Amino acid sequence: MLTGKKVVVGISGGIAAYKAVEIVSRLKKAGAEVRVVMTRAATQFVTPLTFREISGNPVVCDMWQEPKEWNVEHIALANWADVFLIAPATANIIGKIASGIADEFLSTTVMATKAMVMLAPAMNSNMYINPIVTDNLLRLSKIGYQIIPPDSGMLACGVEGPGRLPEPETIVNTLVRILTRGSDLAGKKVLVTAAGTREPLDPVRYIGNRSSGKMGYALASAAANRGADVVMVSGPSNLPPPPGVVVKKVETAAEMRQAVLDEFGNADLVIKAAAVADYRPSIVSKQKIKKTDGKITLVLEKNPDILAELGERKVKQILVGFAAETEDLLTHATEKLNRKNLDMIVANDVTLPGAGFDSDTNIVRVLYQDGRIEELPQMSKDSLAGQLLDRITALMTNSN
Ligand code: CTP
Repeated sequence: MLTGKKVVVGISGGIAAYKAVEIVSRLKKAGAEVRVVMTRAATQFVTPLTFREISGNPVVCDMWQEPKEWNVEHIALANWADVFLIAPATANIIGKIASGIADEFLSTTVMATKAMVMLAPAMNSNMYINPIVTDNLLRLSKIGYQIIPPDSGMLACGVEGPGRLPEPETIVNTLVRILTRGSDLAGKKVLVTAAGTREPLDPVRYIGNRSSGKMGYALASAAANRGADVVMVSGPSNLPPPPGVVVKKVETAAEMRQAVLDEFGNADLVIKAAAVADYRPSIVSKQKIKKTDGKITLVLEKNPDILAELGERKVKQILVGFAAETEDLLTHATEKLNRKNLDMIVANDVTLPGAGFDSDTNIVRVLYQDGRIEELPQMSKDSLAGQLLDRITALMTNSN
């Protein structure tokens, strides 16, 4: 899977450094050529000799050490790499990279590389949720760094919570998926819905919602970049159409339903990121409604639930929904996952700062039909689109 790929594994100083031994071993077994860079603190946990034996290459721990078999200059290694994987990534190395500090070999090499950089944070939970660390990770994700979220569980320091380095198998699988993203949806037909619908009251007014379309547009764009034939049915949005995506613009939920049903039969995957109005005015006035002295009452009637209808009709399609909630996130999202017969639902609490409507970032939990729940950290909607598609392609592979 990784034959011919050149991977630099950066190891910073945390207890999870011991798991990097298996990561390097798995990368080698998958066919990658691996060079290891360790921070000085990392060498306190595992010896460089261990990594030299497993990687089959000299290990760099020091900016100033004598070069051995090959040119160890940081620029040479930065150019050599197809991908950097820093696992474990401590709060310290994350902070340094995010702040542009290059004071030892690993941070200097990362700064000099144009290769993709993946970070697998691992640390005490309180450190991980410290706003300094979350801000640093967010800043890095916004400029294209790939963050592999940590697991939650009992940590070496005796605390329970997020911060545990995922299993080496998960990390290597994630790396493989990200490196092969370029074509992993080739030949697949993907239908995405985006933005909010507008339900007219009269020729000048409508009932709408605050959805900007950013999440759906990011997903459509990311799917097209991975080789899929993408049709996006979009409610009104100011965003430019993503290159390579066929965009069908609609206004109302009824129009969205029709456009979605027209495409559904061809689709392998449907991602419903649109915020569909659940109700529409019973009467749409032909003329502008004039104000009067008294109150007015709007009578609304129910719109069809498009996603629930797709859930009933689904044959081969993978169905992914979104759930925007303001309370009881997991209860509501689980209920929607089951009721709408979905394979996966992406749930977000839209009351959190940095999540939901019109934000450039999102904070979500991913719920699967088999009961798994994954919590993803705050990240840009573009990064999230990539992470969600990684998970969806894994579902599609397993369902074949
Ligand atoms: N959805 C849909 N058609 C609707 C309403 C929602 O296709 N009429 C889809 C959305 O695109 C989203 C998912 O269903 O993928 C959940 O939408 P959401 O508004 O969170 O849920 P609802 O089912 O409308 O429930 P509620 O508004 O009561 O939370």
